[in-house]
Amino acid sequence: MAGLGEHITAMVRSHASGDDSAFYSVALQIAAREARQGHHVLADDIKKAVDTSRQVAQRSNVTKLAKPRGELADLIETSHPEVTLKNLVGPGDLVERLKQVIAEQRQRKTLLEHGFDPTHRLLLEGPPGTGKTMTAAVLARELALPMFTVRLDSLLSKYMGETAGKLRLVFDAVAERRGVYLFDEFDALGGDRSGNDVGEARRILNSFLVFLEQSSPESIVIAATNHRSILDKALFRRFDMVLTYHLPDKMQARSVIKGRLGSLMKGLRWDSVDSHTEGLSHADLVKAAEASAKSVLMRGETLIAADDLIAALDTRRTASIG
Ligand SMILES: Nc1ncnc2c1ncn2[C@@H]1O[C@H](COP(=O)(O)OP(=O)(O)OP(=O)(O)O)[C@@H](O)[C@H]1O
Ligand SMILES: [Mg+2]
Repeated sequence: MAGLGEHITAMVRSHASGDDSAFYSVALQIAAREARQGHHVLADDIKKAVDTSRQVAQRSNVTKLAKPRGELADLIETSHPEVTLKNLVGPGDLVERLKQVIAEQRQRKTLLEHGFDPTHRLLLEGPPGTGKTMTAAVLARELALPMFTVRLDSLLSKYMGETAGKLRLVFDAVAERRGVYLFDEFDALGGDRSGNDVGEARRILNSFLVFLEQSSPESIVIAATNHRSILDKALFRRFDMVLTYHLPDKMQARSVIKGRLGSLMKGLRWDSVDSHTEGLSHADLVKAAEASAKSVLMRGETLIAADDLIAALDTRRTASIG
């Protein structure tokens, strides 16, 4: 049977290493020894102390896990996207750079072991409907990670201190839970949407940049905006990669439509369609393709003709461009 000295040594060791269950098990061994020696009151006291401490520890663990979860739930929206890189239509170099990000993240252990950070801070900028949000989804899917979209409306508060505190919560999550974190409409952080004056908005942006600087390379942080001009050039340097999105060219427009319609547009004569896709975003093209498919199917047909598509594209143009 271990003596008191050995028990104390074991307790100190388990306390130092944070091993609670070892700590309590030694305490219970002491209680058993005291009981054997007829010190029943002392033995009972030790057992009670162990029970109470375990309950307290359990309760505080629960609140530790639950509390940030509760507050975070207001700040981030979780999703598990299904869209893959193959679905994303864009210029070759954009796709190549995304492949690079995916490859670096997949091999991050090797890179980190040698003191290199995988690319993990991305700024996406370009017109609406060109695939910025979709890119975040693609990265999440390709890396089998959850996507966390930060709700800027909940993040921004009239009080600078409160906003900074919320930003800290989000970046704590970045470090603790691997995922793709998207700050959509990122320009709002440095703009006047927060209801703050310019100086205050600037400080919020700066505090974001400080967190970004120290953010864990295991997660991907993406800032997306369609207002490049209001972002300051110095800010671009804070990201590992800046990706610029453009409206699709003729061939990309065809790919977007084909991607959505599949066999419904077999044999379609593209030549007459091309001029009607000009100036429309990827998102507009998807919507027009869907509209034409629906009207054809509801007519009881199964193939989309060029005229159906043209009509839908023109309607879309009126709706989106005016
Ligand atoms: N590059 C693309 N390739 C294929 N589909 C696309 C592309 N871009 C957009 N889409 C389609 O349009 C939808 C909306 O696009 P998305 O939300 O990614 O645009 P965005 O650039 O984030 O726009 P915003 O600036 O308005 O937030 C996508 O879900 C997808 O269906
Ligand atoms: Mg978007």
